[in-house]
This record gives sequence, structure tokens and C-alpha cells, in this order.
Amino acid sequence: MKTLIRGGHIVTATDDYQADILIDEGRIAVIGQALAVQADQVIDARGLLVFPGGIDVHTHFDMPFGGTTSSDDFASGTKAAAFGGTTTIVDFAIQSRGRSLQEGFEAWLAKAEGKAAIDYGFHMIVSEARPEILNEMSRMVDQGVTSFKMFTAYPGVFMVDDGGIFRAFQRAAEIGAMMAMHAENGSVIDVLVEQALARGETAPKYHALTRPPQLEGEATHRVIVLAELAQAPLYIVHLSAADALDAVIAARDSGLDVYAETCPQYLFLSYENYEEPGFDGAKYVMSPPLRPREHQARLWRGLQSNDLQVVATDHCPFCMKDQKILGKDNFAKIPNGAPGVEMRMSLIYDGGVASGRLSLNRFVEITATMPAKLFGLFPQKGTIAVGSDADLVLFDPEGQTTWSAATHHMRVDYNPYEGRVTRGAIRQVLSRGEVIVDGPDFRGREGWGQYLKRRPFRRP
Ligand code: URP
Ligand code: ZN
Ligand code: ZN
Repeated sequence: MKTLIRGGHIVTATDDYQADILIDEGRIAVIGQALAVQADQVIDARGLLVFPGGIDVHTHFDMPFGGTTSSDDFASGTKAAAFGGTTTIVDFAIQSRGRSLQEGFEAWLAKAEGKAAIDYGFHMIVSEARPEILNEMSRMVDQGVTSFKMFTAYPGVFMVDDGGIFRAFQRAAEIGAMMAMHAENGSVIDVLVEQALARGETAPKYHALTRPPQLEGEATHRVIVLAELAQAPLYIVHLSAADALDAVIAARDSGLDVYAETCPQYLFLSYENYEEPGFDGAKYVMSPPLRPREHQARLWRGLQSNDLQVVATDHCPFCMKDQKILGKDNFAKIPNGAPGVEMRMSLIYDGGVASGRLSLNRFVEITATMPAKLFGLFPQKGTIAVGSDADLVLFDPEGQTTWSAATHHMRVDYNPYEGRVTRGAIRQVLSRGEVIVDGPDFRGREGWGQYLKRRPFRRP
């Protein structure tokens, strides 16, 4: 099957030109001007931008958490991702306490296989640093799970002490793996939560007030020091606060292999959302929490200056009706997480490119190319080049998109950006050469997505 995309304006992290793209058997075969070739299907892309498919390296589909399970599974979540211009996700498999990494990996493969509509890989959450688990890390790398996530937060669930984190960092350095860290000081947060509840402070906003930015800054600095000592590459996930960004900037300025992602919610939403009437603040209960508005400009600046390299979503949706409500009388029982996978590309285009903060190239770099490079997927994914997978987004810069729970494709009963209009509209999305989104229609299928065996870490 050959597909010709005619006359689009191709944008990669480095290029920006008009050309035709010939796709053969799911890969980009030829790029050139006015190509004189036969194809089974011709797509007219004149007037449209053609981006590499987005790569969201932080999703939680079908994840048991906070006494419930995230409401998107691999079928609904990857379909929503596709509508949002994302053609690859890297989700988090979990090593449950008392179980092996292999069991966690196989459990998440089973959740995704036959369901995912786009290609997918896994990071592995390490929730214990026992010798058996540390030994097993290399087996994960052999199977394409080349990054691990650990937590300085959520004591009793995922948190591992500093010695355990350090041991895992040393192991990662030996086997060429990337360590991803959720950096908040969980022990101190637990004290603040206990004290707030004792004062009768139970509303959603206390989730944010008991997780101050200083505790993200402290934990970020701490894990950077541990990674430096262990000589392991480090990736800070869902960075939300200027305090944490300062630690990342200092590390990068001294030449360390330290990288960080932020997420749209920290760029567009703020602490004020917790003060919405009634229980609505629960929509935004996530960790780290939304920050006071002044942090946003620092994060945008971080993206501009390459102090932040990636925008991912931390997509972890819970319905208001029967999930967030678990914390009606106690903010600490509200499941942590929010939806984002469908809006990421549109929000960053709107707030980045259309607002003049980011070039088109930088937009592609932080939404596709750097995620691919940092997580062992480049150049199969993350660019438009001969030989790369034909994962493409045809984007109309003159269009616009209105966000609402009534029209989004995520399986969740609210949208944190309800009513927001973003400039630009996704017209078509291709995954390995197949049109999977065509205007309002889904033309993909459950099970089309393939497991991606990722390469070990290589400095980008
Ligand atoms: O609130 C969040 N972020 N939920 C998902 C789990 C995590 O820590 O990434
Ligand atoms: Zn996290
Ligand atoms: Zn997460």
C-alpha cells in the first residue's frame, strides 16, 4: 500500500519546507517536490502543516491508584491520544510490592495488547529496591523497557528511601537505563496533610496547600545529587514549580545528564482552579499540584531555553461522579490525576506557536523529537525522514478547536479546559501510514498499536 501526501508544509525539529511524502508499507519512502509517482491513495495537504506524530511519554492507562483505576484503558486512551495528534505513548507499568518487574511488565503488556490503537512502550515503576529487583532491571532493558520511574512521594505506596533510589541509580548507570523521578518530599507532605486534616481542612484546595513548591524543589535537588554520584542519567517527570526548575537549570549548567518534562496543566492552569465552587477543585487534584500562576512564565521560559526538554501529559483521569467523589470529605482521598492526552498537542501549539513563545521547530522538538531521542525511539519515531515510521499529523493552522467533555474522546466526565478554544485544528492523523483519524471520524482500530522495544539511553 502506497500513500502520497501532496504539498504539505513539513515541519520537523530542524526543517520547515513544502514537499510531498511517499509512504510505502507504513514507512516514509521518499520526500521530494512534485513527486511523479503512483500511489494507492493521495492526500491533499496543501495549506496544512505536517508534523511528526506526537509522542506522549507520560500516560497512566488502566492504572490502579488511589483506591480506584484510571478511567481510560488502552483502547479509549489511545483513541483519544490519536484524535489529539499523538501516535506513540510510553505508559507506566508497575512493579507491585512483593512482585517482580517481569510480572508488572507482563501485566501491562496484557492490558495494552489487542487494545492500543497507536504504538506504545513502557517505563517500569520500581516500588522496592530489593536486590532481586535491582538484578532484574537488566532483563527489562533486554525487553525494551529502558527507563524506570521511582518516587520520593507517596509513602507506603511507591516511595523508596534515598538509599534504595541511589542503588537503583547505580544499576541504571551500569545497564544504560534512564531513571525518571517523581520528586516531591512525601514524608514531609504526609505531616502537613495530617496537620491540615486535624484542623478540619478537608476541601480539595488543601491538596495543593499541603504539597508546597519548596518540597518539589528540595526533592528535585536531592535526586539530582544522587544521580550525579551514581553517574546515572536522570529525567524529572511532571515538573511543576520554579523551585524544581532552578535545581534542573543548575544541574544542566554544570553539565549533568539531567532532563525534565513539564505538562500542559502546569502551563495553563493554576492554584486558582482549586478555588472553583463546591467540589470542582477536585478536578485538578494531581501531584505535584497546580501552582500559583507566577510559575507558568518560568516554565514557558524553560521550554524556550531548553532547560525543559519535553511536554508530556501525566494523563491519569478519574471521573468526578464516582471516583474523585471518594474524597468528598477528605482531600487526601481524592484520586490523584487528571486527563490530558487528547489536548496536549493543541494546547502547546496554541500557547506556544500561536502565542509566539515557540517556533514550529521547537514545538515539534518538545512534543515528539526529544521524547523519541530521550527514550530510545529516534529516528523510528519523532521525525519526518526517509525510513521513519509514517506517523504524521496534518494540522490546519487556520482552524480552531473547542474543548469540552461533551465532545472529547477521553473516557472521563469533565475536561479541565472546558470551553477553551485553541488555535489550529487536527485534520488527519496517520499511524504507520494508515489514516487513523480523518476529521471527526476514527478510522483506526483496537489492536493496531504495536509494542515498541526501546533502545538503551543515548545522550541526545
Ligand atoms: O497525580 C498524578 N500525577 N497521578 C499519576 C501518578 C503520578 O504520580 O504520576
Ligand atoms: Zn508521578
Ligand atoms: Zn504520572
